[in-house]
Amino acid sequence: MPKQFTRTYRLWHWLLALSVLGLLATVLLRKTFLSWRSNAEIIQAQLAQLGTGITAENAAIVAKAIRAPMWEWHYTFAVILGLAIALRIYMIATKQAQLPIIVFMKASGSEKLKTGTYMLLCFTIAIMAISGTLLYFHEFLGISKEGAAGIKEFHEWMMQPLILFVLMHLAGVLRHELTTKEGIVSKMIHGGS
Ligand code: HEM
Ligand code: HEM
Repeated sequence: MPKQFTRTYRLWHWLLALSVLGLLATVLLRKTFLSWRSNAEIIQAQLAQLGTGITAENAAIVAKAIRAPMWEWHYTFAVILGLAIALRIYMIATKQAQLPIIVFMKASGSEKLKTGTYMLLCFTIAIMAISGTLLYFHEFLGISKEGAAGIKEFHEWMMQPLILFVLMHLAGVLRHELTTKEGIVSKMIHGGS
């Protein structure tokens, strides 16, 4: 049977993809161009050249202030991720979709790799969403500083399997696109009817 993707399914997919790619992009910027450590060094060096001194602590404060508006996007994309998760739960509740683990368990042998990747991808995204929300509200939830530091380390570490599963998904989609005439990517855009 030719594949067809409903409007709700496509909306869910692209909300999820936008939010996850956006969240990863904010981390990339935080670790590169907007890294407070490198920018504090640049600020200190440039001001020294201009003959105005600044302490390392103050340079760090300035560098973090420059980074702050960009990092707000981490939370904006987090809200979009929350919307995508809520939509998937609604789809499951209204029988328009199933839990990824059920799809995996029902899949035939040749579909196991694909559905297994989706199951792990969705599981890792859920873990990121839960740990991120706990981090964001840690004071409100009464989580200690040490507890929050542990959650942050875990949240950051989990990004590695997430990137792996996203890359596996993109490689799988590319392979499907190149080895069949189905046009799966454009179907995910216009539905395929
Ligand atoms: C980080 C970004 C992305 C995430 C998290 C993601 C996530 C997912 C998930 C979880 C599924 C399985 C849905 C289900 O339960 O049935 C899926 C399917 C799909 N995705 Fe993505 N996706 C991303 C990016 C993309 C991109 C960039 C493309 C296109 C170039 C794409 C194309 C597809 C297609 C065509 C399917 C359907 C595959 C099939 O049913 O055989 N995805 N995606
Ligand atoms: C794909 C999903 C996500 C990825 C890949 C991701 C990645 C990261 C990484 C790598 C860090 C550590 C940054 C650093 O200290 O250098 C971080 C911090 C954080 N993330 Fe996420 N995150 C994701 C989703 C979320 C969500 C859904 C929330 C919910 C609000 C969230 C909230 C936070 C918070 C509060 C911090 C701590 C920021 C700070 O200490 O300045 N994240 N995230």
